[in-house]
Amino acid sequence: MTKKILLSGVKPTGRPHVGNYFGAMKQFVDAQTVGHHENIFMIADYHGLNFIQNKEEMSQLTLDLALDYLAIGIDPAHSVIFKQSDVSAHTELAWIFDTIVTMPYLMRAHAFKDAEAKDKEISVGTFNYPVLMAADILLYDTDIVPVGQDQKQHIEYARDIALKFNHIFCGGNEFGKGGVFKLPEPLIFEHVATVPGTDGRKMSKSYNNTIPLFATREEITKSVMGIVTDSGGPESGGIPQNVYAIHKLFRNESDIKSLYEQNKGKYKILKETLIEDIDTFIKPLRERRAELAKDPAYVLEVLKQGSEAANKKASEKLLEVKKAIGVL
Ligand code: TYM
Repeated sequence: MTKKILLSGVKPTGRPHVGNYFGAMKQFVDAQTVGHHENIFMIADYHGLNFIQNKEEMSQLTLDLALDYLAIGIDPAHSVIFKQSDVSAHTELAWIFDTIVTMPYLMRAHAFKDAEAKDKEISVGTFNYPVLMAADILLYDTDIVPVGQDQKQHIEYARDIALKFNHIFCGGNEFGKGGVFKLPEPLIFEHVATVPGTDGRKMSKSYNNTIPLFATREEITKSVMGIVTDSGGPESGGIPQNVYAIHKLFRNESDIKSLYEQNKGKYKILKETLIEDIDTFIKPLRERRAELAKDPAYVLEVLKQGSEAANKKASEKLLEVKKAIGVL
């Protein structure tokens, strides 16, 4: 029996944080452990190019993310790890999709609307972001896409684009039957769909409220000490809500409940326990990453092999697409 395809990606735009990890990357590793799927994990450098426009930074961040993937336990023997820019079928397919996707449809994308609301100058790359992401997903006949809540709309775009393509070029129906493309499903776990940051908002690099995934003990201490403790108000009963919300990522909830009940109002003790728990979790990851970083040639080799595997699959799909549109 052929395995279902599980694919996801991360942009190389800075150090990943525990929101990226619990919201998405942990699911990558868990999927690999269960072994029911064929796993494909991408470094979305062409998406990242919307944010990183400096060659040294881009090449460093890309290698860093490959190291991050390996350090959390993604194993090239069981998963494909590759760089989006190594597989030109992604941008080629995105162009083909551009010819059937309308501007008003893309103008409904959250990321575009946010940028517009902030009066930002919006590049065509930012506008077209969901189309490239649809290509990333659809090229591999992906069944499942593990992501955080903020990517849900992008998976819906990928489904809509697949349906539209199938309908126009292959006589597929609106239920997804028939055609070149499969309809992908998001995999989003409710309890980690939006991991909060140190200020209670969504954890995000752009809010400066992150706990880096490979943080040093000092960085963990700094982040935890910076957690806003008064957001619960009097009804929180002495339980600092933001600290609690982050803590339950690192320990099971029944433990946490009794810990917080016993230490009502003792914010210092609770934060110190949280620092300890985060460090216990991060330390082995940090050490593994430091070990892997000693061998950049190995990381480059992983990416090379990943790109070969990804190119093989993607070029077969692109051939099907080209036949369907009549250019072959
Ligand atoms: P990116 O790089 O912004 O984020 C990587 C993953 O982390 C998740 N995430 C979170 N989850 C829960 N709580 C949070 N606070 C949090 N912050 C980030 C994101 O939802 C994401 O799953 N567009 C994608 C990259 C991409 C991709 C793809 C993903 C490109 N092509 C194809 C899947 C399939 C992105 O910018 O993720």
